[in-house]
Amino acid sequence: MSSINYTDKIPNNVNLSEDRTLQRALEQWQPNYLSWWNDMGPDGSQDFDVYLRTAVSVDPQGWAQFGHVKMPDYRWGIFLNPAEQGRKIHFGDHLGEDAWQDVPGEYRANLRRIIVTQGDTEPASVEQQRHLGLTAPSQYDLRNLFQVNVEEGRHLWAMVYLLHKFFGRDGREEGEALLERRSGQTDNPRILQAFNEQTPDWLSFFMFTYFTDRDGKFQLCALAESAFDPLARTTKFMLTEEAHHMFVGESGVSRVIQRTCQVMNELKTDDPAKLRAAGVIDLPTLQRYLNFHFSVTIDLFGADESSNAATFYSTGLKGRYEEGKRTDDHQLRGQSYRVLNVQNGQLVEKEVPMLNALNEVLRDDYIKDSIGGIERWNRVIEKAGIPFRLKAPHKAFHRNIGSLSGIKVSPEGRVVSEGEWAAHVDQWLPTATDRVFVSSLMGRVVDFGKFANWIAPPAMGINRQPANFEYVRFN
Ligand SMILES: [Fe+2]
Ligand SMILES: [Fe+2]
Repeated sequence: MSSINYTDKIPNNVNLSEDRTLQRALEQWQPNYLSWWNDMGPDGSQDFDVYLRTAVSVDPQGWAQFGHVKMPDYRWGIFLNPAEQGRKIHFGDHLGEDAWQDVPGEYRANLRRIIVTQGDTEPASVEQQRHLGLTAPSQYDLRNLFQVNVEEGRHLWAMVYLLHKFFGRDGREEGEALLERRSGQTDNPRILQAFNEQTPDWLSFFMFTYFTDRDGKFQLCALAESAFDPLARTTKFMLTEEAHHMFVGESGVSRVIQRTCQVMNELKTDDPAKLRAAGVIDLPTLQRYLNFHFSVTIDLFGADESSNAATFYSTGLKGRYEEGKRTDDHQLRGQSYRVLNVQNGQLVEKEVPMLNALNEVLRDDYIKDSIGGIERWNRVIEKAGIPFRLKAPHKAFHRNIGSLSGIKVSPEGRVVSEGEWAAHVDQWLPTATDRVFVSSLMGRVVDFGKFANWIAPPAMGINRQPANFEYVRFN
């Protein structure tokens, strides 16, 4: 079960050839997917041979095989983690019952919505990142970008498989619509706002893969608990791919910091103007980018009080992060949780039923996890002997969803007036000047072993290759 059949037109480990109708439907979707990839995938990359990893089995050890591949020939397919014999539902109203191998009629609409919303983010990020290859800071980074892109494409396959297999005609229509929406397009945008923002430069890309792909991790972890077993098994395998995306983000930002600190020490200055003149990104600018990506990403968890979140949990569709490791009753009736609220223009804590606060619970778990990496970035700054600390902004800063969306809050968590906001926003969020400066650094560096001036080389290459390995052959 865990090994993957690569002789089929669509690689899979779900015995696709035994379900002719499904196989035919997916084989009809496949050329549409490829034409979407050609239109919206990495700009100008069709002929490159890229050192990519491809899944060969879903075993935790050694699922990946590395080799140079042309991206349009990447073997996108359907890979599920192996079934767990006798798996039981372990939270919500159906606790203790057998996990579902099919979609219960009464939950069909909600499950479809969950799968479509997740599925929509996958091609969206490929679209957001499609021009970045033109300004890669090195071959190593270019390869990582492309790896992330092909895997987001595969995540789309993962969701489209579920839609086709379990949702009949509706599912097939949703599968088409996933190829039709476009990130940032006004008449047919992607579903979630963070996926309509631009990823115009590599600093944004690293911040995105650190913060926003981590939202993906938390959503997938919650879905990996689902009572709908095929969804749980699909998302478990997606998580193994997701880990690399967050690594790209964390190590990318870390290398930017490392290079900046090096130049700060060489020039003995923390003056942003001097550092910019030396072609590196000053730490306050990094903090503003961090503030932007953090705040936009935590909006993705949805409203702090949500009856949908309660329904998704109680009906067993979506669990909590690490549901299985928690020691409560896994039903949460009568329990409460504190969420932030606005009263008379001030932030106050308010107890609400836990079930209705599950978006907030997941957001808080996310925040804890993302702060870990910020602390690792701070160690790079500390090691360089520089007295500067990066910080996650307050949860209420720059929010556009939920009860916090109506007020202005500083990164420290102080409610501020519109006037104060306007006077300080240039210190808190990237300005047009910041963005112009960062994009002025983006020149294409793809010579062997060469790295752009604004970023340090990685400590180690991919798959134990050296940093100056030929990760991309341009032909
Ligand atoms: Fe993904
Ligand atoms: Fe990802």
